[in-house]
Amino acid sequence: MQNKKFYVTTPIYYVNDRPHIGHAYTTILADVLARYHRLMKVPTYFLTGADEHGQKVQQAADKAGISPQAHADATVVRFQELWKKLEITHDDFIRTTESRHKVVVRKLFQDLYDRDEIYRAEYDGWYCVPCERFFMEKDLDNGACPDCKRPVDRIRESNYFLRMSKYQDWLIQYIQDHPKFIQPDFRRNETLGFLRKKLNDLCVSRPKSRLSWGIELPFDKEFVAYVWCDALTNYISAVGYLSDDAMFRKWWPASFHLIGKDILTTHTVYWPIMLKAMGVEQPESVFAHGWWLVGDAKMSKTTGNVVNPMEFVDQYGVDPFRYFLMAEMVLGQDASFTEEAFIRRYNADLANDLGNMLSRLIKMIESYAGGILPAPGESGDDEKQLREAAVAAAGTMERTLEGMRLDLGLGAVANVVREANRYLERKQPWTLAKQADKTPLHTVLYHAAETLRIVSGLLWPVMPGKMADLRRTLGIVEEQPDIHSLKEWGKLKPGTKLGPMLALFPRIMPAEKKEAAGEGIVAAQAGKTPPETTAAAGGGAARPGGTVVAPAGVALVEYADFQKIQLRTARILEAEKVAGADKLLKLQIEIGGEKRQLVAGIAQYYDAAALPGKTVVVVANLKPAVIRGVESNGMLLAASAGKELRLVTVEGEFPSGAVVK
Ligand code: MSP
Repeated sequence: MQNKKFYVTTPIYYVNDRPHIGHAYTTILADVLARYHRLMKVPTYFLTGADEHGQKVQQAADKAGISPQAHADATVVRFQELWKKLEITHDDFIRTTESRHKVVVRKLFQDLYDRDEIYRAEYDGWYCVPCERFFMEKDLDNGACPDCKRPVDRIRESNYFLRMSKYQDWLIQYIQDHPKFIQPDFRRNETLGFLRKKLNDLCVSRPKSRLSWGIELPFDKEFVAYVWCDALTNYISAVGYLSDDAMFRKWWPASFHLIGKDILTTHTVYWPIMLKAMGVEQPESVFAHGWWLVGDAKMSKTTGNVVNPMEFVDQYGVDPFRYFLMAEMVLGQDASFTEEAFIRRYNADLANDLGNMLSRLIKMIESYAGGILPAPGESGDDEKQLREAAVAAAGTMERTLEGMRLDLGLGAVANVVREANRYLERKQPWTLAKQADKTPLHTVLYHAAETLRIVSGLLWPVMPGKMADLRRTLGIVEEQPDIHSLKEWGKLKPGTKLGPMLALFPRIMPAEKKEAAGEGIVAAQAGKTPPETTAAAGGGAARPGGTVVAPAGVALVEYADFQKIQLRTARILEAEKVAGADKLLKLQIEIGGEKRQLVAGIAQYYDAAALPGKTVVVVANLKPAVIRGVESNGMLLAASAGKELRLVTVEGEFPSGAVVK
């Protein structure tokens, strides 16, 4: 990372609502990014907070029969408590009702008014109460709010307006000149699409006669500031704008405003124009993530499927919850949250792979080396391969973080754990333990432990508690890892006393499927079976999977499972060798208009030059992976027999993107 500093923000959450996994997700993501940057020794500032003014809060307070301030004071703690529970390490929590914030909003309104960026005018149009936004007749969607599709009210009143329209061309140009300003790319296109329509000036006030719960305008006591102008200002008021120049110079511009996709326009049109009018530099990047769905459905209070993070964490623990959210969502796209998916990933990545590996290793070091980490002897190809994979994962993590593809970084770390488990399988330390010369055994034990040291450091920002436990078990004294130590092999000191043994991630045993009508989610309970009781160690046949024994014959799958695999025809556009890998080709393919890159292990069978133009069959919905540092989105199908391998293709001319079934 070349950045000199890292300033990350979350949206400030409305206090009228209870925190749900959507809120938890953005805040955990910001926390994980902040922790990685601190680990990389980049000065970091992480801001979150609460949006306490506006109609939604006033209405909720009216309903509760208390003042809006009393309501905000009572509800903001739900967020603060949740952040504590989720181990969030924000540097500041700003509330828009604090005077440090209100002073700044007033000053900047006065400044904009004095410089004629804000003017007063009569407004005659439509207003959406839930969105708190004005619309002209032409903007409506069949007479309803173009954003939330709910009915709008006719409104005729005097208000203050920000001269937003005059900055439209500037903004389009700015977005085009700064490709990282709005991420991911398709969101940038969404904003540019929105800007194809003529921008209206933005109504930045609300008459007190209609809404009194807001920051009073310094130049007109009859009005309060529009809640979005108030709220967006938190990103600069919290870091010293108009109050502490040194602090402001230190942190602004923000490196990332993390937001959900539904608040893209406010952050990529209103906010940049407000800053431009104020003469303040733009944030480096606004990153809009997708939504968490529950199964396939939108989370909503009406359907009652809102996932409460507190309850979930009480049941399954904070670190697995953080890991699941980070590993499961491809940043930018929607993701699905179900207890079943959580348990599946937990058992696969954490219980079977990581937790099991640790408990096997510690047991073996106990039995064969008296609980003391032995010194490695000479290493061979297997050790070299494992070492390289572990050290490379640190680089992959850094690169994927820069590209905001944390899911891929975590996938790379999970691969290293699997590789280490395979290494133990190949080396069979329990057999080596029977030899007179213990050096080969010691080499294996050391390599497995050292791999876990690197893995624990790379996963520490996501699972700080569990990884601190793991590190203590490995005899590491530093609380926080340092990125340099994760890129170097051999930091664990032979002779260190290891242990005690930990059940880091006890396997979760899914309870019987509840056939409750319409429920469709597997109910589950935390199992009490720690991995070390199920995994064989010592002289036995320890397996990386630990608890799962493969059936002797061919496993049968349900048709419903088969249907989950999306097979599609794809056209190969380009092919080239992956540097440093004899077997791999990097392919650019096209699936019905969508371009993708994938890595295929076919270099020994096909010449890259012969591939462009071929129509092949790919698994289109495979989770992305990084193979030898190259991103791969999908998998080719090929038939293999003995030394031969042939790609699966379709007969004659055929369009790409067609379903194969
Ligand atoms: N107060 C405004 C933000 C002002 S920022 C200057 C607001 N608050 S909110 O509490 O309604 O929403 C906060 C965030 O939660 C938004 O980024 C929104 O996208 C996100 N989410 C709400 N539901 C969500 C999911 N189901 N999944 C992921 N994030 C979602 O908007």
